[in-house]
Amino acid sequence: MTALDRYLDEHRGAFLENLKAALRIPSVSAQPEHKADVRRCAEHIVTHLKKIGMTRAEVMETAGHPVVYAEWLGAPGKPTALLYGHYDVQPPDPLELWKTPPFEPTERDDKLYARGACDDKGQVYMHFSAIEAHLATNGKLPINLKLVIEGEEEHGSESLEDFLRSHRKELDADLIVVSDTSMLSPDQPALTYALRGILYTQIEVTGPARDLHSGEFGGSVMNPANALAGIIAALKDADGRITVPGFYDRVKELTPAECEAYAAVPFDERGFIAESGAPMAWGEKGHSTLERLWSRPTLDVNGMWSGYTGEGSKTVLPSFAAAKVSMRLVPDQDPKQLFTAFEAHVRSLAPAAVKVVVKDLHHGSPWITSPDHPMLQAAVRALARAWTKKPALIREGGSIPVMATFQQTHNLPCILMGFGLHDDQVHAPNEKFSLTSFHGGTRSCAYLYEELLKGV
Ligand code: BES
Ligand code: MN
Ligand code: MN
Repeated sequence: MTALDRYLDEHRGAFLENLKAALRIPSVSAQPEHKADVRRCAEHIVTHLKKIGMTRAEVMETAGHPVVYAEWLGAPGKPTALLYGHYDVQPPDPLELWKTPPFEPTERDDKLYARGACDDKGQVYMHFSAIEAHLATNGKLPINLKLVIEGEEEHGSESLEDFLRSHRKELDADLIVVSDTSMLSPDQPALTYALRGILYTQIEVTGPARDLHSGEFGGSVMNPANALAGIIAALKDADGRITVPGFYDRVKELTPAECEAYAAVPFDERGFIAESGAPMAWGEKGHSTLERLWSRPTLDVNGMWSGYTGEGSKTVLPSFAAAKVSMRLVPDQDPKQLFTAFEAHVRSLAPAAVKVVVKDLHHGSPWITSPDHPMLQAAVRALARAWTKKPALIREGGSIPVMATFQQTHNLPCILMGFGLHDDQVHAPNEKFSLTSFHGGTRSCAYLYEELLKGV
């Protein structure tokens, strides 16, 4: 056993404690009341990175939440990896559904429960642990590392684009490494070569100037909740296809080779659907579940509100109704162009008897890279060493908006090596990270730096 492997084994407990300390800080980027906590988390990480031996680590300002930047550049002539991750988390609500409090990390059955345990503090701390292990056992890293850990990912990474552009030279590298995605199953590691983009909108419908008695006025003016329901119902047809004109124009169909590759992916569809708790699989006609998840666009209502939703009944004709509607986009769809098309379509569906406003809350482009890039082979080898199986090459349905930005600012090969599991309840109550993922992921990161030194 090498000194590195021994260090990784002997420090499992300490690595976990380091992660727990970060999980105790409620760095919820979307909620203004947590602004100071977000900064405190950035400062906490900087202190930790200095302690493990990064030569530079600092909190850097953006127009929004700060970015943690750190580097170790003691391997001149060797490759430089730019490691991206995020230390911000989603709001923990609804709090009453958590079995243990979201910001008091708790171990149960070989899993660590806390908001951010998997997404993404747990995965960021795998890299910190791997870096620590190399520096402690060899006094150096196999390659150069630059770390960009941002604080706004869960909020759309609004300030990061400017940050990347204004620090473009400092952030030069040979490749980008991200651990913020998933494995296929607990013993099947994966490398992700495509992510969906997102267009997140809000539709607001206003009818009468105030709530009305539904007996006194019902039948005389249009109800905005009914109008909104009609608009939403018309956004998809009976085959589950989105009705926005031109929506599919730029959707790339899968090549026969990709279709074959999809069929060969060891995806447990039954288990996946069962895990969701839904009665059965459902979606756009003519495409498999995996195709619909990874390479077809979607349109989903994320929330809607209007009128009376409390106990019992109240006879009211509401003045206002609204819905949050998001679309997941695939190559080569363009979120800006689609917002214009979406807004026009919603307006065309809106009855004249109500007023309708459509807002673009945030958007990000889809991202895809070639699964055959030779740089990926280093990650294939690292994962094969750390797990019992070779990694599967997959696409995923989630979004990391900055990946498309990196393509524009850096245009470098990207390794997306993530360790989340489908039952990790990310963005939901009782988020967790399996300790097998955490320790196996740490080992994978430590090996990745070595394999990147060996070259392609
Ligand atoms: N880590 C996720 C993205 C992800 C999820 C990738 C599942 C692969 C599989 C990331 O933190 C996230 O939640 N992104 C948001 C983006 C949004 C807030 C702009 C998403 O996908 O909803
Ligand atoms: Mn994430
Ligand atoms: Mn997330």
